[in-house]
Amino acid sequence: MQIHETIAGLRAARARAGPGKRLALVPTMGNLHDGHVALMTQARAHADQVIATIFVNRLQFRPGEDFEKYPRSFAADCERLAAAGVEHLFAPDETEMYPQPQTYHIEPPPEQAGILDGEFRPGHFRGVATVVMKLFQIAQPDIALFGKKDYQQLMVICNMVREFNLPIEIVGGETVRAADGLALSSRNGYLSAVERTEAPRLFRVLTKVIDAVRGGARDFPLLEQGAISELQGNGWVPDYVALRKKLDLQLPSAHDSGLVVLAAARLGSTRLIDNLEV
Ligand code: PAJ
Repeated sequence: MQIHETIAGLRAARARAGPGKRLALVPTMGNLHDGHVALMTQARAHADQVIATIFVNRLQFRPGEDFEKYPRSFAADCERLAAAGVEHLFAPDETEMYPQPQTYHIEPPPEQAGILDGEFRPGHFRGVATVVMKLFQIAQPDIALFGKKDYQQLMVICNMVREFNLPIEIVGGETVRAADGLALSSRNGYLSAVERTEAPRLFRVLTKVIDAVRGGARDFPLLEQGAISELQGNGWVPDYVALRKKLDLQLPSAHDSGLVVLAAARLGSTRLIDNLEV
């Protein structure tokens, strides 16, 4: 695996790959787990060469969030990527990505980026969309892969690509979970041993909601409130549990199909997110 710390280095490698080669991009913030690796494997199947990126993007963190303490494990990450057959790793430092403060931004519309996670993390999706647009311009991939674990992020990126006519196919990867259901996340490492045994409740609560919807339940606010109460009763501080339409994450009406239930909740000082499609 070649490691590129500069944009020029990645671009030169891209040129060496030749014009006919299909390139897949898998952006990450590192501290890689099996969910990331599954995206790399999926990318492998879609392309001649895979470019992984590791960059902890300050723009998408709010003051007081975990930018400084975000787990960084570069050597182990490189081993995992090489083992997954990734050809190129782009791992720029901050001055390479932001040599001067970023003054132009991609501003996703509030009805997509100001709801759900965007309501609780104002500016988050603007930071994500801006860095992903930069990574797309730098790597110029034919295809890019993102996990459904970050469902709203995937939606924002799909819409950005469509509205800016970017010639990039976006592919969503299924959420990879631990045996007990907990969605893998770099932030799971923040959990204490006791919190780790409690954490899969989020998945179980969401499973109950989608089972009820599949069984014909249509009082969505009641289902959401039931899930919130169960989380609260077990020491969680939920930000939201929301049944939404898959396509645009807007509120469904009772006859809508194609739904997803999304949740974010804090367990101790760790904020976990998850979702399940109905
Ligand atoms: P990060 O949290 O490192 O995630 C990188 C990619 O892995 C994202 O597409 C995310 O959805 C996916 N992913 C995370 N956990 C997963 C799981 N359990 N199963 C499947 N896929 C999973 O998301 C980001 O980084 C950043 O916002 C980024 C897109 C890199 C922009 O900075």
